[in-house]
Amino acid sequence: MSEIQKIAVLCSGGDSPGMNCAIRAVVRTGIGAGLEVYGIQKGYAGLLEGDIRQLQVSSVGNILQHGGTILQTSRCPEFMTEEGRKEAANLLKRKKIDALIVIGGDGSFNGAMKLFLEHQIPVIGIPGTIDNDIDGTDYTIGFDTAVQNAVDAVDKIRDTANSHARTFIVEVMGRKSPAIALKVGICTGAENVIMPTATIDYSKIAADIDRGIKRGKTSSILIAAEGEVEGLSHTIQKELKEKFNHQAHVCILGHIQRGGNPTPTDRLIASQMGHEAVRALLKGDTASATVFKSGKVMIAPLKDCLRKKNEFDISDVELLRTLSI
Ligand code: F6P
Repeated sequence: MSEIQKIAVLCSGGDSPGMNCAIRAVVRTGIGAGLEVYGIQKGYAGLLEGDIRQLQVSSVGNILQHGGTILQTSRCPEFMTEEGRKEAANLLKRKKIDALIVIGGDGSFNGAMKLFLEHQIPVIGIPGTIDNDIDGTDYTIGFDTAVQNAVDAVDKIRDTANSHARTFIVEVMGRKSPAIALKVGICTGAENVIMPTATIDYSKIAADIDRGIKRGKTSSILIAAEGEVEGLSHTIQKELKEKFNHQAHVCILGHIQRGGNPTPTDRLIASQMGHEAVRALLKGDTASATVFKSGKVMIAPLKDCLRKKNEFDISDVELLRTLSI
């Protein structure tokens, strides 16, 4: 058993719906086990500023249904430096905080891993990003809600696209991860999904649109994964117009995908992960992550979750192609 008495929790990177459920679970599991639990505002940036406060059972009342994070979040280049991490470690030691729980993506996990390796502060990562792109886990908190938000939006776009017999390019978030794009494509009956890393075959896209029109389709929806930089869909629009005389409308969904009430799936997995993260610390884990594998939340070494995952199941692409003829 561990000697841990005080723990802290922070969110880092892009927020994701369900982070509040994980915070609530950390706080209530921790207090239930006799720990003092502290919340760090604005991620690693807040840690460096000493923006830390003790959380009570009531501090996390009525939050699990809300998107965003009550702790706020940030991307913090300073924490990526050795000097920044040293400062953060000293601050945690001065406040006698024994361990840190980090809710975020692979960048946040890499920072946490270094904090452990360089300063021996026990850390547990909880995967929280809408992109579902962390190695070592099948699921990251927020993905299901982001997909739900995007599906709702595409369904609405389909109504107007049908009414005007139009083609739409709908750009979804996810950076280089194809996860949101592919799932949204299948769930909305999209005619095509443009994957973030693939070379774009414009003549095939144009031929697919033509084939659809010939067999009587009244609209076409192309889901474009944003890739490294937002705005790829404008390039696709230009190419289709200039090379194939196809007029397409562009809709970039953007941050709307990251907001709103978390779905039950996100609430459940986030609650389980928050709970397991505290249990792992109580058992004496020092550098672990909560992961979702084979339908279950479990604990894995943090070092297995440090890379970005951009793979996809080829059968999902085949399914989309088969069903969108
Ligand atoms: O990593 C999550 C994510 O929402 C990506 O899908 C997106 O590209 C990025 O964050 C946007 O970041 P920001 O909110 O900092 O502009």
